Amino acid sequence: MSASYDNLNAQNQNHNMYTEPQHNGSGYITPASRKKGTSNWIKFGIPVLIVVIVAAVVGGVVGSRKKHSSNAAAASSQSAASASAAASAAASAKSALGKFAVATNSEFMMPIYPSTTDTGAFSSPTFVPSSDPKNSWPQDTFKPSNPDVLTVRPDRPRLIAPAYKWAALPNLIANDPYLQSWNATIFKNASDYKALPPVVYFLDGDSGILDNARDIKRRLKAFAYVYRMTNDTSWVDRAWEEIQNAAGNGTTTFGPDVDRWNSGHFLDTAELSAAFGIAYDWLYDVWTPDQKSQIISTLIKYGLQPGVTQVTTPTGWWRNNITGNWNCVCNSGLTMASLAILNDDPSGLAKQLLQTTVDNAKNNCAQAVSTDGSWAETANYWYFGTTGHAEMAASLLSATGSHYGLMDVNPNYQKTGDFHMYISGSTSLFNYGDHGPNKYSTTANSMMFYADFYNQPQYALFQRDQYDAAEPWSMFWYQPNIAGAFWDGKPLDHFFDNFVDQWGSMRSTWTDVNGLYVAIKAGMLQYHQTHNDLDCGDFVLDALGTRWAGELGSADYRSPGYFTSALQDGQRWMYYRKMTEGQNTILINKANQNLNAAPTIKFDTSNTTQGPTTVNVVDQDSTAFFTTDMTSAYFDATSVKRGIRLLNGRKQVLLQDEVTASQGVQWRMHTNATVNIDQSTFQSATLTLDGQTMKVQMLNPPNGAKFSTTTAKRFDTDPTPPVPDQDNPGVTVLIIDLPAGTYNLQVLFNPQWPGSVNYVTPPSVALDQWTLRSHDSS
Ligand SMILES: *[C@@H]1O[C@H](CO)[C@@H](O)[C@H](O)[C@H]1NC(C)=O
Ligand SMILES: *[C@@H]1O[C@H](CO)[C@@H](O)[C@H](O)[C@H]1NC(C)=O
Ligand SMILES: *[C@@H]1O[C@H](CO)[C@@H](O)[C@H](O)[C@H]1NC(C)=O
Ligand SMILES: *[C@@H]1O[C@H](CO)[C@@H](O)[C@H](O)[C@H]1NC(C)=O
Ligand SMILES: *[C@@H]1O[C@H](CO)[C@@H](O)[C@H](O)[C@H]1NC(C)=O
Ligand SMILES: *[C@@H]1O[C@H](CO)[C@@H](O)[C@H](O)[C@H]1NC(C)=O
Ligand SMILES: *[C@@H]1O[C@H](CO)[C@@H](O)[C@H](O)[C@H]1NC(C)=O
Repeated sequence: MSASYDNLNAQNQNHNMYTEPQHNGSGYITPASRKKGTSNWIKFGIPVLIVVIVAAVVGGVVGSRKKHSSNAAAASSQSAASASAAASAAASAKSALGKFAVATNSEFMMPIYPSTTDTGAFSSPTFVPSSDPKNSWPQDTFKPSNPDVLTVRPDRPRLIAPAYKWAALPNLIANDPYLQSWNATIFKNASDYKALPPVVYFLDGDSGILDNARDIKRRLKAFAYVYRMTNDTSWVDRAWEEIQNAAGNGTTTFGPDVDRWNSGHFLDTAELSAAFGIAYDWLYDVWTPDQKSQIISTLIKYGLQPGVTQVTTPTGWWRNNITGNWNCVCNSGLTMASLAILNDDPSGLAKQLLQTTVDNAKNNCAQAVSTDGSWAETANYWYFGTTGHAEMAASLLSATGSHYGLMDVNPNYQKTGDFHMYISGSTSLFNYGDHGPNKYSTTANSMMFYADFYNQPQYALFQRDQYDAAEPWSMFWYQPNIAGAFWDGKPLDHFFDNFVDQWGSMRSTWTDVNGLYVAIKAGMLQYHQTHNDLDCGDFVLDALGTRWAGELGSADYRSPGYFTSALQDGQRWMYYRKMTEGQNTILINKANQNLNAAPTIKFDTSNTTQGPTTVNVVDQDSTAFFTTDMTSAYFDATSVKRGIRLLNGRKQVLLQDEVTASQGVQWRMHTNATVNIDQSTFQSATLTLDGQTMKVQMLNPPNGAKFSTTTAKRFDTDPTPPVPDQDNPGVTVLIIDLPAGTYNLQVLFNPQWPGSVNYVTPPSVALDQWTLRSHDSS
């Protein structure tokens, strides 16, 4: 995105999310006591049951990268794994499991957990008090009584990983399977980067050199890490080659001499500043005086000097009420670089910057988390924002002994770990809105830092099994004296009721990529830093290891007007992926939703939590629902309500819409599946995808309601956007197309689970009458 676009957005959307929500929610979730076994439990959703799990994990043979590990094994293995075998193996299983996830799904990059009903293998999330140097970090002896941002610790490194942590690390690695595997992966990745030529400068339109910057940051972190773990100076040499290249002193050119780090798109400058800061600090002991002064002069010329211009002139638009990733990344990069060279910096700029970045980040970055924990930009932008926030806070803590309020000025900040967990579906994120640039050095590893700081061990336990866990920050943010399973006692549902986002997350399990996941949003169509779509009522649906109703993602950020969104006819809203047409919701008069939408929501949940094992079993009456009155999102309707709920012990999903419209109504859902509509009634359809099947059926269909399909592109009658839309290859839109009128549309989703499942047909209940028990079969 470009600075000017977001700047424009900022002026039109200055809004403080740190205010109380005006929600209509009927339920709020607190960790409820776990349900213990009852006789009428049923099992579903996990095709592979016990399957000699213990032996398999110990023997390392469950490392299947296939999506549907083995449907066949299900029924028979259940009986085969006798209770006694499981019991005798329980104790050894617990330690032998080591890393809980045994593989990563290759399509969706989700962790695969062994299916086990062995309750001895897992326990509740906790930090185990420990002074045993084999599994806990030593205390930091740098404890200033009056921390000051300009008073840094005497020893190096200062940033994130002080010397005492490096000294303790080998012993911790030797005793912790996660640290062991991340260390190995970082070495492997570093070797791969080492073999490549330095990053080649590429100015990518309006997203500038952000990919370059983050790639360089990722590399310098890895090179410095491996050097410190080996004392092999070839890594220092390779880091120097990368640094010289990014300074414009390499064998290929790197940007224009006046502004190599592309300060007009300041994220790029900030990330390169952070990269140089880390390299300077982590390799401080081995740089020659010449190298140090060259790094400093480059950092000042291309990073800190432009940084001072940003913080002292209006070019730094991201400092004013930008409660989003820009503020976090820019302040963080300037802070890390300044801390790294403080006292060695002849210019005084580091000092000048440190006196302004911290307060600015407290007033903006730290406020980007709303009252319910949501990151209002999008699920993907959460990664950029929280990475910046965590790097900045962790650097201030290690270098100066305080975070100066960055961690607690917003009392709701700590809930953002739950935002990330609940927005992570069985296969992928509830990825509404823009997805953002490539991630490179950006990860979800802030979860480990937050887990420790906020005493929320489940955040770290969740993140440690993810594919992006293996990078240097994790090595220092992860507390090895952690125990238990993140899912143990974790509610399956959560509703986020701040009026800006208003969304709900419901699932059948936390530990099976094949499980059911439904997420839906209402929310406002402003205040998302122009990364949202016109998407009240939008939902995603996962089951059987695939996504059945999904998102189209970002359009091209370089498209003219892409970030011009303040007006109803703004150009952003002419691109299909951003229009209401491009969402899984109700479309009326083929028109975009009203930018001033202010929906209300209701929700409730049986408060079901997962138990300690990875095979989650739920009661038949375990359920959750979310309804919204989103009439205000439409121009040609007097009432538009939508609700979604789980049925039949979380095996089926009902989506219901009650609409009174003076113009044509379309129900729309985007899917990668192959759609086969029943050609006699046109009221049911069979979706197939990834070898799995989903049946979709209208209940009590109004006259004339028929399923049909269309392609995922603009209607010919839509206004023409400045440049053509992206194609959406493989995507089919399942629609129900009706003239003006009053309708109650009920669409039942029946994933075709393995084994014999009794599918229910729920009663017809008006949305206003929905309760937890309103759909029980009589
Ligand atoms: C920031 O937002 C607040 C609250 O909306 C407003 O009072 C203030 O004037 C804004 N500041 C700037 C610099 O726009
Ligand atoms: C880290 O990984 C590398 C590469 O696999 C290995 O050589 C090294 O011994 C590991 N470090 C420790 C402390 O185990
Ligand atoms: C790091 O290494 C792992 C394991 O070899 C690999 O899967 C991953 O793609 C690498 N990551 C990067 C960023 O190169
Ligand atoms: C690297 O050198 C330091 C300082 O001499 C020493 O303490 C450390 O043990 C060495 N590490 C390795 C892996 O050789
Ligand atoms: C790059 O070259 C310039 C001009 O000679 C010099 O001022 C700067 O310190 C060098 N930086 C690095 C990192 O090599
Ligand atoms: C189709 O699959 C791709 C790749 O997994 C995914 O990014 C996209 O969101 C899916 N689209 C829909 C409409 O589900
Ligand atoms: C769920 O938990 C909330 C908050 O504790 C409580 O108000 C509600 O009654 C619970 N609902 C059920 C069905 O247990």
